[in-house]
Amino acid sequence: MPPQYGIGPHDTTARHLVQNRVRIEPGAADWSNGRDGLTSVWKRNHFSARYLMTARKPPATPFSEAPGPVRSLISEAQIQEAVRQLGQQISQEYAGKPLTILGVLTGSIMLVTDLIRQIELPLKVGLIQASSYRGEATRPGELHINTILVPDVSDRHVLLVDDIFDTGRTMQGLLSRLQAFEPRSVKSAVLLWKKVRSTVDIEPDYHCFLIPDEFVVGYGLDFNDEFRHLPYIGVLGGGHEA
Ligand code: IMP
Ligand code: MG
Repeated sequence: MPPQYGIGPHDTTARHLVQNRVRIEPGAADWSNGRDGLTSVWKRNHFSARYLMTARKPPATPFSEAPGPVRSLISEAQIQEAVRQLGQQISQEYAGKPLTILGVLTGSIMLVTDLIRQIELPLKVGLIQASSYRGEATRPGELHINTILVPDVSDRHVLLVDDIFDTGRTMQGLLSRLQAFEPRSVKSAVLLWKKVRSTVDIEPDYHCFLIPDEFVVGYGLDFNDEFRHLPYIGVLGGGHEA
């Protein structure tokens, strides 16, 4: 049986462990052989705690692809205060209206979870996926939108929440795509706005910070899917550590 990746094997493995009372030995898996290592690990029924969690080979170092350290641009405290103010503004402007917050995956994860806790209104939360960057590229590519997680928003006011308005192509594409879902209104809110980079006619309805044309990471924003967990916004390769 070839090694499998994803949810399935985790479930199977977990069930197997429970049913057969297999002892989990942390570090039992041999990562050095990559996929072959996993196959033999699977065959021998030796599972490490790590394999159960991820079922894929971990990177050699935590930030193996990153070009240098991260310089702090916007602190955690500044972000939290700005998000609090944005929550208040939205609470006032959407009072009495049926509101659905639609987070744009993956970059908005932190903003959405912090922002909805600052909005003092009944609301619903949904997600939509958009991606325009490929791998380690820091310049946009073709826009892909996945609407499978969008809930029924007909007759509701939608606020699209994203991490950053850069060229604006993503937000423009999302706004136009959402029209098919017939919401009462659609507006956009972003944490960051790189105003100088805009190539579209629209502007975000709400934003927390204007930033210069630098590639930033943290608070949901990534480089090659790393750095999203940082609680502050930083610039990659920016000299001293944050
Ligand atoms: P836009 O379509 O050019 O506005 O790009 C929007 C998307 O590109 C955002 O949702 C981000 O995922 C990504 N992006 C743009 N600028 C940056 C950046 O400086 N750091 C990380 N991601 C970025
Ligand atoms: Mg994004």
